[in-house]
Order: sequence, then structure tokens, then C-alpha cells
Amino acid sequence: MNVLVIGGGGREHALSWQLSRAATVFCAPGNPGTISLATNLPISINDYPAILDAIRDHKIDLTVVGPEAPLADGLADRIEDAGFKVFGPSAAAARIEASKAFAKSLMGEAGVPTATSRTFSDADSARAYISQHPEPLVIKASGLAAGKGAVVCPDRDTAAAAATEMFGGRFGSAGAEVLVEEFMEGEELSVFALTDGEHVNLLPSAQDHKRIGEGDTGPNTGGMGAYSPVSIATPNLLERIEAEVLRPTISAMAARGTPYRGVLYAGLMIGSDGSIKVVEFNCRFGDPEAQAVLPLLAQDFADQLWGVAAGENWTAPSLEAGTEAAVTTVVAATGYPDAPEKGAAISLEDEPPHTILFHAGTASESGALTVDGGRVFSATGLGGTVQEAHRRSLDLVGCIRFEGMVYRRDIAWREEDRAGTS
Ligand code: AMP
Ligand code: GLY
Repeated sequence: MNVLVIGGGGREHALSWQLSRAATVFCAPGNPGTISLATNLPISINDYPAILDAIRDHKIDLTVVGPEAPLADGLADRIEDAGFKVFGPSAAAARIEASKAFAKSLMGEAGVPTATSRTFSDADSARAYISQHPEPLVIKASGLAAGKGAVVCPDRDTAAAAATEMFGGRFGSAGAEVLVEEFMEGEELSVFALTDGEHVNLLPSAQDHKRIGEGDTGPNTGGMGAYSPVSIATPNLLERIEAEVLRPTISAMAARGTPYRGVLYAGLMIGSDGSIKVVEFNCRFGDPEAQAVLPLLAQDFADQLWGVAAGENWTAPSLEAGTEAAVTTVVAATGYPDAPEKGAAISLEDEPPHTILFHAGTASESGALTVDGGRVFSATGLGGTVQEAHRRSLDLVGCIRFEGMVYRRDIAWREEDRAGTS
């Protein structure tokens, strides 16, 4: 099978790594890390005609779209309309991520539990509502904002300022509609459901670490690390998530005539009383969760993605024997998340056993590797337990050197606290 992976971040490196075990992989554009396992094609993720040409030229059987922006923009529709198989939802279905206002109204209709919220299209009405809202509260730009569109506000003044900024164009048109949302207490969980629009199969659960600083302090980022599996995601909880969240959502999308095909990423808040509430839906794999979850899967993953895209008989992907847990530590550039600095020279030592180094923001010129983005690497350690995987992830980070590198040493701290080993 020839597979084309669209994108060039850590998530796409992890997808390419896993798919290359069973398929011949091409990447558009990929990154310096994917060169060793795939053929990188110098095509931008926005150049749809060139992507369609590549599908024809390289006899691609399946295209896997990594990031949300091209999905929201209809890349999957174009590929399907041209008669090719694609893993990833249509633009109509990708609205579940591209419009939080849409996702909220869908959840309301389908009876899916989520935070109470209201959507506004002008600043005055939003501020009037905020002035009556209990604290803390959360302000969100409805559209795509690269993971930065949600602001958790301790008080109403901060919330009013956040809403004013969003309506003032801080996130461009993504802030044309703004949600004011109740703050939810609990522990976050990322659940990835493969679905062909009808059948559902869950991948191992994961937990992301959104804040820049250890102990979950400082501003939100795209994600500083993740681990899988998460022990609070018991078989019973996962069954409830499937019954209360995933199935009703997927049925509601189908009933609207916009069936959801691909991976549905449910960002959930699990209350201490076992309550489940949706924080958000995404229309693609999480980054950096994919760098922890995908290495736990066996190589029939490629067949499963093809089955989802083709709507043919497919089952849950199998797990890789002997690999129980994965921890990925993101290594970011100095200044991340607000103003990451590019250009630092990178040196790498050989990777220790049971680790995988995924590139995310690197550039390579005549063999010399440099920093080229905010999140530079995802260092994944594998093991029999989360603790062992964490140690290996940090050993791998120790093989990376560049000026000003930023990372957290405490990824998976909740799980380690639970196990009493931290
Ligand atoms: P989102 O962009 O909706 O995923 O939000 C980004 C992050 O903000 C989430 O992962 C949570 O950590 C936090 N967050 C968003 N909405 C809420 C909420 N209603 N209550 C508590 N935390 C939230
Ligand atoms: N890890 C969060 C995201 O991919 O949106």
C-alpha cells in the first residue's frame, strides 16, 4: 500500500513512523526526521492541486491528513471527489473542531455532556453576560486558533478583557464568534475514536500537558508532552465515554447528512465523582498525544485506516506486543509559546534503546540540523510501565542539544503520583 501523509510536524512524523512499518510512505512535506522512513515531497499542505498530482503520480492508495486546517478547508472532499481514498473528515464534518459554536449546538442536540456556555457575535453582549457569570470562567474563540483560542480566566475582568481582545481581531476571523463557558473541575483525558461514520473503535487513551511549566504552570501551549495509557480511563469509564459521548455525536453527525469519518478526538474533563464532560472535539489526532499513542499500536494500523476510509470491514487496531506504555516529552525552542526563536544549531547523539525521536520543528541544510519551529522534537520513551517509559523519554531528551531548549521533566506526573513512585 502507498500512503501519503499530509503535514510536517511531530504528529505526522509519528503517523509516518507507524504507517511505514506496513506501507510505503510519502510525506507532503514531511520533515528532516521523516526522510529516513518515507519519501518527502516538497509540497505545501495548502497546495491542493499539487497534492492531487502527487496522489496520481505516486499511485497513492490512501492519503492521511494530519492537521486540522486543510480538513476544515475541504482537502478530504477534494481527494474523495477525485476518486481517491482519504483518512480524515469532510469540511462539513470537520466543523466539529473548526467551529466551537457548531460543536456546542451539536452536543446540545445530541444530549452530550459539556460545560454550559453561550455564544456571542458582539463584544457588548458578551461583556454583559460575563458581568453576571460566576468565576472562574473560560473565554473561547469559536474558530481555529492553533490551540491558543481558549483562555481560562480567574475573574470577570480578565474574562471581559479576553473577549474584547478576541472580538478586536487577536485570532482574526476565528474570533468573530466568542464563547463564554463555565469552568470545569477535574482531570483531562484525550480519547481517540476511529470511526467510519457508524462503527467506533477506541485507541489507547492519553493525557496531554498543555501548560509550559512544570507542575502545570504558566501559559497554555500546543502541548508539552503526553503519556498513554491513562489509568483513570478504566474499561468502564471508556464504555461510558463511548455510550455518552462518542456514539451520540457520531449518530448526530450522520443524521445531519454529514457523516464523520476519520479520527474523532474527544478532549474530556473527568470529574472526581466520575462525571464526563466534553471540553472540545478535534477532527484529527492530538499533537503530542499521537507521538505517545501510535507507537503502542501494532502494524495493522495502516489496514485499519484504510478500512475506515473505504468504509469496509475494519476492527480495532491491535496493540504492539511487549510495549505497554509510552511517554513523550516535547522539546521546545527558547521563547515558546509566544515568540519561539529559530535558527539554533542542533546536535544529536545516538538514540538509546526503546526510544523514538520524532522531529517537529527542525530544518536541515546540507546535513546540518537547526531549530525551525516552536516545538522542535517529541522524545518518546517506551516501556512496561509509564514510569519506565518516562525515564527513557528523559534519557532521549539527554541526547538532544541546542541553545535554549525548553522541556518539562514532569510529564505523566499525575500517573506517577497515582502509582506512588514520584
Ligand atoms: P480548548 O481549546 O477548548 O481545548 O481548551 C484548551 C484548554 O483550556 C483545555 O485543554 C483545558 O485545559 C482548558 N479549558 C478549556 N475549556 C475549559 C473549561 N470549560 N473548564 C476548564 N478548563 C477548560
Ligand atoms: N494536544 C492537543 C491538540 O492536539 O489539540
